[in-house]
Amino acid sequence: MLSLLVLNGPNLNMLGKREPDVYGSETLEDVMARLRRVAEELGCRLEHIQSNHEGVLIDAIHQAKGVHHGIVFNPGAFTHYSYALRDAIAAVSLPVIEVHISNVHAREPFRHTSVIAPVAIGQIVGLGTDGYEWAVRALVRRLERASR
Ligand code: DQA
Repeated sequence: MLSLLVLNGPNLNMLGKREPDVYGSETLEDVMARLRRVAEELGCRLEHIQSNHEGVLIDAIHQAKGVHHGIVFNPGAFTHYSYALRDAIAAVSLPVIEVHISNVHAREPFRHTSVIAPVAIGQIVGLGTDGYEWAVRALVRRLERASR
């Protein structure tokens, strides 16, 4: 059975309360409940980890090796400067889809750079919290194709 890790970085625990005009009114629990239904529909396992700490996210990426087949990752603001997270992804060589709820390209210039993008297989940006669902579907499709 396919198994995916959904990883959320700093401040994403504040979804629903945090800048709702940018990030919407759903909580992270709402988003994850929806995602679990999608995973069930697709017949895959899903683990979710949210942390505000870079080292915890790095450990989670390392520990995903051999346990999960791919990662859906919203690194929050770490996206824009965490070479350590980028190196962690490169180290495990698991397929990662980077997700951003907001359209980072339509926001402040510092959000236009992702140091994660070069080690991700793709990005889903600006589609709101639905982006997580598209990422799970895309990752499952890709992993199923690769295993044929
Ligand atoms: C974000 C975009 C980042 O720039 C920001 O720091 C976040 C959330 C998004 O999902 O749109 O924390 O990753």
